[in-house]
Amino acid sequence: MTNKNEWWKNAVVYQIYPQSFKDSNNDGIGDINGIREKIPYLKDLGINVIWLNPIYESPMVDNGYDISDYYKIHESYGSMEDFDNLLKEAHDSGIKIIMDLAVCASSVEHKWFKESKKSRNNKYSDYYIWKDPKPDGSAPNNWGSIFGSGSAWEYCGEREQYYLHLFAVEQPDLNWENPDLRKEVYDNMEFWLNKGVDGFRLDSISLISKNQDFPDDPNANKNDYGSPYFGSSNGPRVHEFLQEMYDNVLSKYDVMTVGEATRTPVDKALLYCQPERKELNMVFQFDHMHVDYGKFGRYSDLKFKLSDLKETMFLWQKKLNGVGWNSLYWDNHDQPRFVSRFGNDNPKYRKQSATMLATVLYFQQGTPFIYQGDEIGMTNVSFDTIDFYKDIEAHNMYRKFSDMGLPNEEIMCYIHNKSRDNARTPMQWDTNLFSGFSHAKPWIELNPNYPEINVENDIKSEFSLHDYYKDIIKYRKESKIVREGDFKEISPEDSDIFSYTRTYEGHTLLVLGSFSDKKVCYNIPNHLKDFNRELVISNYDSNIEQNENGSTLYLRPYEAIVFYVQQKIINKR
Ligand code: GLC
Ligand code: CA
Repeated sequence: MTNKNEWWKNAVVYQIYPQSFKDSNNDGIGDINGIREKIPYLKDLGINVIWLNPIYESPMVDNGYDISDYYKIHESYGSMEDFDNLLKEAHDSGIKIIMDLAVCASSVEHKWFKESKKSRNNKYSDYYIWKDPKPDGSAPNNWGSIFGSGSAWEYCGEREQYYLHLFAVEQPDLNWENPDLRKEVYDNMEFWLNKGVDGFRLDSISLISKNQDFPDDPNANKNDYGSPYFGSSNGPRVHEFLQEMYDNVLSKYDVMTVGEATRTPVDKALLYCQPERKELNMVFQFDHMHVDYGKFGRYSDLKFKLSDLKETMFLWQKKLNGVGWNSLYWDNHDQPRFVSRFGNDNPKYRKQSATMLATVLYFQQGTPFIYQGDEIGMTNVSFDTIDFYKDIEAHNMYRKFSDMGLPNEEIMCYIHNKSRDNARTPMQWDTNLFSGFSHAKPWIELNPNYPEINVENDIKSEFSLHDYYKDIIKYRKESKIVREGDFKEISPEDSDIFSYTRTYEGHTLLVLGSFSDKKVCYNIPNHLKDFNRELVISNYDSNIEQNENGSTLYLRPYEAIVFYVQQKIINKR
């Protein structure tokens, strides 16, 4: 297939975490048939692509990112027939599906690993990254695991060698240096593409090529592990591998690809997403996820500075414009809920701040990603004790911080702010027990605010976030300015207001959002003062507050406004 019209530039993606979306058979675990039931809901929202987190066979150490068979469906999610039906029904509703391709590591339960660990000279011996111990028997280098579980190396008595795992011990990294392994990956991609899936989100893709010298991280503190990213982020052969993947597989299909690119600055990101390089369509960047990192990394209680957030988002908008393509996201299954993190989840401000954030993000250039529940403003959860948490990372971090002697209160504060389980509590559909997610007790507790925050309540309320999302999605689909327009930042130093323009062939959108819970002034930029303004969207239903000549606006708490600014030669969109 060569009819590549870049349909993914018009896509609005909805991310589904299958375990927590909708349980059809009441075993407490979300499943594929549950997703099928909700296709009309998704169609009504206006999204046109689903990104499905992994649904493959897995022992579920890392909720399905530890895959034991890339050709099978995890049994509690349903059968291959269910999947085929889902794909068909989604397509019939005009919705495409992209799959998660998690091939940086597999599960220890994968048959490749079971063979690989047996000996140094079988067919699968080199499918993983094995190294001899140092002369004193210790691990080959100082890299620590990303999940905070200690060394990134695990000793295996059978081979008398260590294997590398950047994430959990149960997730050995695949050895991309081995052409047979790469061929296995490409074959598996073909398998799913031939079923008709519409692309992939490539998990941890910036980490697949390791520096073959496996050097120690020189910046590690004494007696501590070094960064696992050292020697694995944007490694020496990553682009060669992706180009090979493109030649062998992707070039033959009209599909969408988005690579998870941890620790990838914008200049390096361009190497993944410039179309002429024939690698990926876009990446998930992380710079804006780093604005509230503290001394222990993501697990912190720091509040971000708006100027930092704008600086990074503006940079990506400008650098990729016309040469690459952005992904637009506030959160996902690995991040806390965006309204709690970047907005204000106090009931007084929740709806306004959630819609403001949606506005300032989704009028940027790129492909929007909406994580399940964002469209009704689901919030973070604060479970009382660590026992309520399910995520392996939360438990490892808890143990690590306890070993460091941090008080329980401080640790729980970090967990409440940043645990990935914030995003993984079940989708809140209605006010019934278990919120319409299931009739049985879910695998993880619901957020106790479900009687107030749920789809049913939201849709019937006077100010529905869901409907606001619908409006933005609809507008995006019809607007060349949003799709193609140039980006220009306004007052990047302003500590309350996020503002920019998008301009396409003389037509301009002025986007502004207040991050303040107080009333703040906004001066219309000089070059736009004399033009007529037409309101495109606003998250307050009463009139805009402004001075007599309209040159200054008084933005109410978390107010968002988008104007279409008519230029002198009036020539409508
Ligand atoms: C990716 C996934 C995350 C997972 C990790 C290790 O970052 O998004 O959920 O834990 O890979 O597999
Ligand atoms: Ca189920």
